[in-house]
Amino acid sequence: MEAQSYKLLDGKAVSAQMKKEMAEEVVRIKAAGGKIPHLAAILVGHDGGSETYVANKVKTCNEIGFKSTLIRYENDVTEEELLGKVDELNRDDDVDGFIVQLPLPKHIHEQKIIEAIDYHKDVDGFHPINVGRMSIGLPCFVSATPAGILELLRRYQIPTRGKHCVVLGRSNIVGKPMATLMLQKAYPGDCTVTVCHSRSENLKEMCLSADIIIVALGVPEFLRGNMVKEGAVVIDVGTTRVPSTLTKSGFKLTGDVKFDEVAPKCSYISPVPGGIGPMTIVSLMRNTLLAGKKAIYD
Ligand code: GUN
Repeated sequence: MEAQSYKLLDGKAVSAQMKKEMAEEVVRIKAAGGKIPHLAAILVGHDGGSETYVANKVKTCNEIGFKSTLIRYENDVTEEELLGKVDELNRDDDVDGFIVQLPLPKHIHEQKIIEAIDYHKDVDGFHPINVGRMSIGLPCFVSATPAGILELLRRYQIPTRGKHCVVLGRSNIVGKPMATLMLQKAYPGDCTVTVCHSRSENLKEMCLSADIIIVALGVPEFLRGNMVKEGAVVIDVGTTRVPSTLTKSGFKLTGDVKFDEVAPKCSYISPVPGGIGPMTIVSLMRNTLLAGKKAIYD
């Protein structure tokens, strides 16, 4: 069969446009004497991936004109210390939203920290109140990766109504919220949704019947060409740091999709890097802007 000529879902370009729109809004807020949105981030330890993600979040705040605060702890921080800082940020009127970068060291109960965050400031959308509100379609902070994917689908006007969307992965951060959102009576949404995971027996057959595949497994090059039907839309959420001698940093970001095999079958496909990664960061910025404007909760 003849190969499709696929189009790239250019998250880098779309996120640059969104940053520009938000920077313009900050200028307008400033001119009107309003409050500049302020994001705080808590980073524990020195995990390479987390360091990079948090540095990018702070850098993007600066580019847009938001205020940002980075709070760092060593790996031996106690749960009490972290809970104390969360409480302080909850009460700090200058901080509109904050995040605790995950994963946390094993001795800290991650869910306890997440639930200690005031949901009004939970710009990651991880608090059960935000998750619950999202699942029944109420205004809330939607976690950044799923929100970024929805925005990319919207800006490329990808048809979703009635389509079969297969989500690979069932994490609380991506797979589950993504499936919930694609099911929602909305655009993007209105899909028939199937969620597959590491225990699924018929994963390949499910993928072959999918119009839209969203891969969030964290398994490099998992999705192969023979798992995708002609004309499908493929979204690659994978960002595994694979050691490489070809880059200055010593690693290469690798997606969950074997791009060379899959792309020729697709109508649209998101690349790694330059696809969902930049959309995730910009969606966190959007949540921060909404928090600063008290647009979701008073
Ligand atoms: N670790 C991986 N992704 C995320 C994210 O979106 N937010 C936080 N806080 N930690 C993460």
